[in-house]
Amino acid sequence: MPRARSVFVCSACGHQNPRWEGRCPGCAEWNTLVEEARPPGSSEWSRAARETAAGAVKPIVLGDLEAAEHRRLSTGIGELDTVLGGGLVPGSLVLIGGAPGIGKSTLTTMALANLLGAGKRALYVSAEESAAQVRMRAERLNGSAALRIPVIAETGLHAVLATLEQERPEVCVIDSVQALHSTDLTSAAGSVAQVREVAGEVMRVAKSREIAVLLVGHVTKEGSLAGPRVLEHLVDCVLHFEGERERTYRTVRAVKNRFGSTNEVGVFEMRDDGLVEVLDASARFVAEATRAPGSVVLCAMEGSRPLLVETQALVSPSELVPPRRVVAGLDRNRLALVLAVLGRHAGIGLGASDVFVNVVGGVRVDEPGADLAVALAVASAARHVALTSGERPLACFGELGLTGELRTVSHAERRIAEAGKFGLTQVIEPAEHPTLRSAMQAALAPERSAKLAA
Ligand code: TYD
Ligand code: MG
Repeated sequence: MPRARSVFVCSACGHQNPRWEGRCPGCAEWNTLVEEARPPGSSEWSRAARETAAGAVKPIVLGDLEAAEHRRLSTGIGELDTVLGGGLVPGSLVLIGGAPGIGKSTLTTMALANLLGAGKRALYVSAEESAAQVRMRAERLNGSAALRIPVIAETGLHAVLATLEQERPEVCVIDSVQALHSTDLTSAAGSVAQVREVAGEVMRVAKSREIAVLLVGHVTKEGSLAGPRVLEHLVDCVLHFEGERERTYRTVRAVKNRFGSTNEVGVFEMRDDGLVEVLDASARFVAEATRAPGSVVLCAMEGSRPLLVETQALVSPSELVPPRRVVAGLDRNRLALVLAVLGRHAGIGLGASDVFVNVVGGVRVDEPGADLAVALAVASAARHVALTSGERPLACFGELGLTGELRTVSHAERRIAEAGKFGLTQVIEPAEHPTLRSAMQAALAPERSAKLAA
């Protein structure tokens, strides 16, 4: 039987199927399989290779290699360098994913301007906007070398590769990977095959010419990098640029990093003249905390950095069955767990209430230490009691166990120290309160004393 000439590839997960199906067997998404030409087979080559040693490569001893560490290129943006693990590594591919309008082009333009200012050769490949549009953005970034950035506005992959070969930049931005396309393939720009081809070819040139490449990628509504999960394992580093367009604060976090840790987070603010690093994020969030019922300050850890963020909750009678559970900046499933524990172990049943929980400032907190803050914010909202200690907002952290116990989380001392730095001396935490019930009594105690006084 002749081998089929084409294969059906899922545009969501990259799964390959020999025939078309309505639903992808890989990820169960509907209508995502797209026909692609099958790449030429490799069976003949492998037979020849097995029989001879032709094409063998001589291994090298690791210790003989030059360490790449001292060759990092600083982007001049401290928060970005930290997330990258100390700057860009020559010859590496960094994928920056984020929703449209979040500031990917702004961030990459600023990084290039700084690198150019530091005497590096740079190139900006704009496949989405015209050079004039890129210039308009650069004009806003005053006081920088942005207007000196060499730009090509080009969507053809081969033209871009040829330009890289000729210009030999040390750093290159490709904005975006989904907008470039190769004429070798028939599928549309942005399809899995195209994105894979583009990234693969760019990587080949980047590695051979030692170019550090920043690939910009769009994310889908669901938050995954559109189409190319295939890309995530190809590149060296994947950064997610998150936050809400309407909000001023944005975070950059590494979700994969071959040259550093994946815990670091950078906080930025979008201003009229570009993105500004927010170095005193804790101070701002504490100063802005409302101290109203339903609000509590969470001592979070963002990578190796403690960060104080206000967590807010609203509880209101529901007209819906099931009632609404809306959460921003936190994991939805953790909210479900916290509400269940509150009902079972703290006597706060919310089966007939809508619950909204929000981390203020557009910051995302992805750690179990946030559980207690969610529980206390919801309890405070449900009981309509403000959580304060004197004039100050109350701070807390801790993971919630299913039996209503509080579990210790990493870096307790650093979290407490960060709270202390901003005058939050009362921190409700697992070392002092082994159970949620005990933590709630301590947090909601002012209610009792106020009632006694009345
Ligand atoms: P942009 O970098 O184009 O986003 P992306 O490439 O991720 O789609 O910028 C996003 C928004 O930021 C845009 O609506 C305009 C705004 N902006 C500022 O507020 N200040 C600035 O200095 C710049 C350059 C953009
Ligand atoms: Mg853009």
